[in-house]
Amino acid sequence: MSKTPSLRRSNKPFRALVLVGFMGSGKTRVGQVLSRRLGWDFLDLDARVEARQGSTIAEIFRNLGETGFRQAEREALLELIREMKASPAVAALGGGAFVQPENLRLLEASGVPAVFLDAPVEELWERCRLEKHRPLAQNLNQFRQLHESRRPLYMKAALRIETSGKDADTIADEIAAQLELTCARKEK
Ligand code: S3P
Repeated sequence: MSKTPSLRRSNKPFRALVLVGFMGSGKTRVGQVLSRRLGWDFLDLDARVEARQGSTIAEIFRNLGETGFRQAEREALLELIREMKASPAVAALGGGAFVQPENLRLLEASGVPAVFLDAPVEELWERCRLEKHRPLAQNLNQFRQLHESRRPLYMKAALRIETSGKDADTIADEIAAQLELTCARKEK
């Protein structure tokens, strides 16, 4: 876990955060646990893209290519940012969302802190390799290369949490402590 001394830009507590990181890093699971603890909404960018498009991520990649997917993803992200301004929320972003320069700019402008869930690439691959619905997880070599090219961009997040060997409850606790968030309830 790495800590930035002045994560909070003002005395106002955070009312939203986004979870970022590579495929298999546990963004959705941690987001669900953390949002329940905080009593905040949980928003899932991939699920929002699918709902807006009326098709699965795999189908969107097949029919519109990655470019079409990124366009749909940006529009859904704008929707999520608007919702996070209106009501406290934890949002889980898809693995490629945070590394698109325009998305990073939108998120930085929103003031919503990004939390990078980090883990060794071998562990991420183990979690993803048997899942058929991931268009960008073809084989270990391709997965490793993509991870290597993206990792410096995930490091632009306000906070990095090392997740290796930890369960979602522990990770959620660490994020809440680092961002000084008050948990409405504790479930264990
Ligand atoms: C992607 C990750 C996926 C999904 C899409 C593209 C990526 O989300 O958005 O398949 O570019 O890494 P998860 O990280 O939730 O698997």
